[in-house]
Amino acid sequence: MSADLVSTEFVECFGHLPDFTVRSPGRVNLIGDHTDYTGGLVLPIAIDRSLLVGARIVDGTVLDVCSAHFDQRTRIPLDKPVDDPEYSWAPYVAGVAAVLKQRGIDVRGAQLFIGGDLPPGAGLGSSAALEVGVATALLEATRQRLSPVALATLCRQVEHEHANSPCGIMDQLCCTSARADHALLIDCRTMKTEHIPLKLDGAALVVIDTGVRHSIAEGEYARRRRECAAALGAIMQADASISSLRDIDEGQIGAYETCLDETLVRRVRHVVTENSRVSLATDALWGGTLAAFGELMTESHASLNEDFDVSCDELNDLVSIALRVDGVLGARMTGGGFGGCVVALASTDSVPDLVSAIHELYDGRYDADALVYPVQAVNAVGVLEGNRDA
Ligand code: GLA
Repeated sequence: MSADLVSTEFVECFGHLPDFTVRSPGRVNLIGDHTDYTGGLVLPIAIDRSLLVGARIVDGTVLDVCSAHFDQRTRIPLDKPVDDPEYSWAPYVAGVAAVLKQRGIDVRGAQLFIGGDLPPGAGLGSSAALEVGVATALLEATRQRLSPVALATLCRQVEHEHANSPCGIMDQLCCTSARADHALLIDCRTMKTEHIPLKLDGAALVVIDTGVRHSIAEGEYARRRRECAAALGAIMQADASISSLRDIDEGQIGAYETCLDETLVRRVRHVVTENSRVSLATDALWGGTLAAFGELMTESHASLNEDFDVSCDELNDLVSIALRVDGVLGARMTGGGFGGCVVALASTDSVPDLVSAIHELYDGRYDADALVYPVQAVNAVGVLEGNRDA
């Protein structure tokens, strides 16, 4: 959905044009999953699939919000934004207003229209895009700015306190900090970010959406967080020099096996090896060695599947189908897992074969068929247009 279409739909919904439109991109994580909430390393890109938030400032103390994806409209009172939200997506919007106010930031009444081509619930960071997009619109309405890190942490607080989702910082920080044609290396311990040039000469990044989201996803995510915290606690008791799983290198894992049960050993092994794969993958991007990058992606998938237990049959099938296609350099699940999407790195020539192989070998086997599309790395959230002064 283009900004023009958002304007048209805004007019249909509210009877006049928006003052401005915010573009808030989704993300694909290239490598480094389930490491952000343990202070680890991640390497996502913002993708050319975005939420668009059309906004118009109005008198009064209400947010009047339309969601194109859900074909729903709700009114959120700014004096009690988080009371009794009517729809599943409304707590994200109301939560943004609540957290902005809690931080002493002025929030004005507004009409908001949320559309765009980022599918909700596909594991492409749509909830972060929603929070960051709405927060950016509400800040723009009063001409305020927050730094990318401040905006991302505010939006993570919305997830934790108003959406019951104990997520890490990756999705929000990618949405606020990404740069076109670059991957974003995030050190989630320090929140330091670095833009790594994504020189894909002759290759493409392809998203393959399983079309499924298993209902265990949220509970299992929280459980993985607890397991990582429990493992760190046990390791810290045994070794006072450790204060984060990030302090552990691969050679040390064996030394902690006696203080962890078998499951926790696997969890720690994933986190520790994944952090080192992110470092190696970053080196591979700098060095232009895409084949090495692809291999690390595939190794990462195996680790998420075997050690972290966050993959599922649909994701595993898509990865193995993709890897059978000549010219595919690597493939892995991306994001939280239990459904959602795979990202593959493939030579541009091989993309048509990849698309055919997926449809031939995957479609019809599960509840949903796969959607396959290439993605580009785009810029962070931004305001697209404004006629407020007109
Ligand atoms: C979800 C969370 C992120 C991150 C990923 C897994 O997308 O929102 O914070 O933990 O899962 O890497």
